[in-house]
Amino acid sequence: MDWFARDFDHPLYFRIYADKEAEAALEGPALADLLDLPVGSSVLDLPCGWGRLQPALEDRGLCVIGGDLSALNLERHAREYPAPLVRLDFRALPFREACVDGVFCAFTSWGYFASDAENLTQLREFARVLKPRGVLLLDLTGHDFLKNASASIENTWFPTPAGYRERVRWSPDRRRIWTDRIMDGERFRHDIWIPTGNEVLEFLAQAGFGLDQVWSGLDGRPWHPEADRWIYRAIRI
Ligand SMILES: C[S@@+](CC[C@H](N)C(=O)[O-])C[C@H]1O[C@@H](n2cnc3c(N)ncnc32)[C@H](O)[C@@H]1O
Repeated sequence: MDWFARDFDHPLYFRIYADKEAEAALEGPALADLLDLPVGSSVLDLPCGWGRLQPALEDRGLCVIGGDLSALNLERHAREYPAPLVRLDFRALPFREACVDGVFCAFTSWGYFASDAENLTQLREFARVLKPRGVLLLDLTGHDFLKNASASIENTWFPTPAGYRERVRWSPDRRRIWTDRIMDGERFRHDIWIPTGNEVLEFLAQAGFGLDQVWSGLDGRPWHPEADRWIYRAIRI
């Protein structure tokens, strides 16, 4: 089974990521501002997870449909943030071409697939469902920041306040970060490609996007190579 099909669809995922619920109060409105679409625009929240950012999009007057692979996340979304929801895989979106004004892809939700071809397919699928001039907001972890932040702790297990142990390592080719976690005797490993700034731009262009703006934080500060967060606003050409 692919790591992302198991890790995110496990009940412990909600405990491991519990702090993200509170962070949504800040992240949601800020990311919705950066998406910057007019009231009434249609937006796919891909992936929507358990829906923590959905209220902020709705508060902006956007018509939001959530999509995610995890049935467990979608169940929680339906309970806590009722909305139109679709179970889907990024690699083959169940929507027709050019049907939405925006795709909202928050919290490092690109780079999960093992091959560059599949990761490109995800962006091509986003481009395919967007109307011409439609907007993709792509919120990623900054590559250089993560390399620097992990340098002194790589390969060391740490306890966390949430009650799990965690270790980060880079793959031998130094392109992917492996985050191992152990909680209640269960082991998880996220295996995520962390693209460089040039790679993000290259893949966006190959998928049919032109770059509108890129920022280094929720407050819209200008892009910086060492920032922890890179947020791209790209336009479907
Ligand atoms: C880090 S979470 C982000 C969720 C949401 N954007 C947020 O900020 O809370 C990543 C999400 O991607 C979903 N996911 C992983 N692989 C997927 C795939 N191949 N297709 C669709 N969703 C996927 C997971 O189920 C999980 O809910």
